[in-house]
Amino acid sequence: RAGAEVLVASNRGPVSYAVGEDGALGAKRGGGGLVSGLSAIGPDTNAVWVCAALGDGDREAVRRTGGTLAPEDTGGQRVRMLDIPSQVHADAYNGIANSVLWFVHHMLYQTPLEPVFDAGFRQQWGAYETYNRAFARALADEAAEGAAVLVQDYHLALVPGMLRALRPDVRIAHFSHTPWAPPDYFRMLPDEVARQLLEGMLGADQLGFLTHRWADAFTACCAEVTGGTGGTRIGAYGLGADADFLLERSRRADVEERLATLREQIGTGPDGTARKTIVRVDRTELSKNIVRGLLAYRQLLAEEPSWRERVVHIAFAYPSRQDLAVYREYTAAVGRLSEEINSEYGTDTWRPVVLHVKDDFARSLAAYRLADVALVNPIRDGMNLVAKEIPVVSEQGCALVLSREAGAHEELGGHALTVNPYDVSGTARALHEALSMDAGERGERTARLAAAATALPPAQWFLKQLRALRG
Ligand code: G6P
Repeated sequence: RAGAEVLVASNRGPVSYAVGEDGALGAKRGGGGLVSGLSAIGPDTNAVWVCAALGDGDREAVRRTGGTLAPEDTGGQRVRMLDIPSQVHADAYNGIANSVLWFVHHMLYQTPLEPVFDAGFRQQWGAYETYNRAFARALADEAAEGAAVLVQDYHLALVPGMLRALRPDVRIAHFSHTPWAPPDYFRMLPDEVARQLLEGMLGADQLGFLTHRWADAFTACCAEVTGGTGGTRIGAYGLGADADFLLERSRRADVEERLATLREQIGTGPDGTARKTIVRVDRTELSKNIVRGLLAYRQLLAEEPSWRERVVHIAFAYPSRQDLAVYREYTAAVGRLSEEINSEYGTDTWRPVVLHVKDDFARSLAAYRLADVALVNPIRDGMNLVAKEIPVVSEQGCALVLSREAGAHEELGGHALTVNPYDVSGTARALHEALSMDAGERGERTARLAAAATALPPAQWFLKQLRALRG
């Protein structure tokens, strides 16, 4: 049977399209940890990446190409984009995946933000099944006899079981890029939905998680809901940073240009030396805990006045999932609080918070280079690659303030300043300690962080799973 030997499936693909004013389609590389990890497939293997059309530009690209994207847009990678009806996609992606499953796995539901599993939810759940079935069918259609299929993330939890029924010959892996909720929290989902999700995933030969903690939580959920994990192998694969790519990319001209602009915005303190920087880079995402990070910074300025005029908080908070009202409100809250801090403490010569919301990878890398302190304080995070990237790129070494709830803490915790993400005062203290760290200790810690962060770079991360799947 002709077809691909290796297949990857994810909601977001490696490229997205926008229709320009002249009617031409512009292609842009997709963002997020998942896309960076999967780029390792490379154009050479007999592989195909199946993804969904996410917006009007994508749909237009599918219409013009029949779904198999032009290789010049994808770096040579064979990509098949599925045009799933937009209402089905919206219900599955916004309604189920990002409103319910994301909130469960990141434990973001807290009074008064509570889930309501009513008729509307059941209707959206139907869309989630339809959407997963569209992927399963496309994969069944594209796979060679005995192919390896690697399905990604909470959007596609039902695909392994569905694909298994269509193609018993293929080997199936599923990888979760999010945390996994412990049973007491996971079981807030309606019983039949919880069971379907777990059974769907257990249709795979192999399940991957970013840390042992998430893998253990999954196993614990199965023990309670499905009575075990059957013959499915479960493992942790800690996606690491790609040092070669980051170092090369962060030395290019566009980054140098942004570095100069940032240096101007940061300015010099009263003693004439460059101000210190606390850097954070996130999607504007509730789980990233940006607001508590700003509150901690404000408390630092209040309690340690010696830092006033001498430090700048560089916060890049790139809008994400703006179709959802809670995300829009969160984005607005981040903006409001930044302005409040600037009007409370700012002077004619000092802007305490430099907030940028327009996504710009080159500028993120410029900020990485400048970082004295990296602030990564998520409420819960599958891994958090930013925590791994900044120590690799920072020029003078950086102290990492890291939430114990980030997956990255499993590998980096020993060399970071650990915080409880809910504890604003504790985070303010950690920021003070990080800013005060002497250069020697900082350099040593940065070297250890960078070594741990690059232990399993994306290409190896991908190949390790592929090898395990092929047995
Ligand atoms: C997380 C998820 C990815 C997702 C990314 C960006 O990293 O694990 O699956 O692609 O967020 O979110 P978005 O909704 O924009 O794809």
